Amino acid sequence: MTGYVHGYSVLEASRLYDQARTLTELLHHDTSYPPGSLVLEAGCGVGAQTVTLLRNSPGARFICVDVSDASLEEARKRVERTGLEGASFQKADIFQLPFERMSFDHVFVCFVLEHLQDPEGALRELREMLKEGGTITVIEGDHGSAYFHPDSEVARRCIDCLVRLQAGSGGDSLIGRRLQPLLRSAGFKDVRVTPRMVYVDSSRPELVEGFTKKTFNAMVEGVREEAIKSGMISELEWDKGVADLHRTAGDGGTFCYTFFKAVAVR
Ligand SMILES: C[S@@+](CC[C@H](N)C(=O)[O-])C[C@H]1O[C@@H](n2cnc3c(N)ncnc32)[C@H](O)[C@@H]1O
Repeated sequence: MTGYVHGYSVLEASRLYDQARTLTELLHHDTSYPPGSLVLEAGCGVGAQTVTLLRNSPGARFICVDVSDASLEEARKRVERTGLEGASFQKADIFQLPFERMSFDHVFVCFVLEHLQDPEGALRELREMLKEGGTITVIEGDHGSAYFHPDSEVARRCIDCLVRLQAGSGGDSLIGRRLQPLLRSAGFKDVRVTPRMVYVDSSRPELVEGFTKKTFNAMVEGVREEAIKSGMISELEWDKGVADLHRTAGDGGTFCYTFFKAVAVR
């Protein structure tokens, strides 16, 4: 991965926790692994998904890897605080995994492929880790799926800045729509993708806070300096676009976004 566009700041860690908390039911209600199974969580970050994985799968064991020491440390502490057992953390790169081939029952990977230059290659590596019949679960977003009211051309341009900056560092924030072909090309079979749409309006205050404001808008706002510096947008337009994005979280505003969750078999 080159230049992880969201960075590793405290704010970004808190954004990942908010995202995970708010979306737990939507994204995870159908993920649980049987007791005794060994699961690889690839790119666990600060452990925002790990806690839910552990809660939903008592008796399963998780090996959680990431390339960032700081995130792994955060993840370790976070899981420790919950008192949940079954996870161990280690530094490893998805492209150079220090495990034997076919040693895991399942693989789980969430919001990671979008940042990789070679997501198909990553999926091939992860497939190698699975036992015969083992499954992979992949969750990704797709920023092209964001639409909102009141609509705003300049707000859409701010989102497009994030999409282009991520593409510039080799990632693809529109990857959700590509999960099925990617998994198939990487050799997986029985690929099933389900769209998970988040719809937010003021009658769902926890989603207004946890998703529109603290997850999506915070993510866009995180690239302000880079977007302006790159000349993609002027400071004035950026600030207007972000203000418009915030109006979608106000009274009378609405916001829609679709995540994609794939499950496939080795
Ligand atoms: C957006 S975070 C997602 C973290 C976590 N899965 C979640 O959903 O909260 C992406 C994570 O992928 C990690 N990552 C990126 N490239 C990686 C690689 N080649 N091997 C392992 N981890 C990687 C980053 O360090 C970062 O922690």
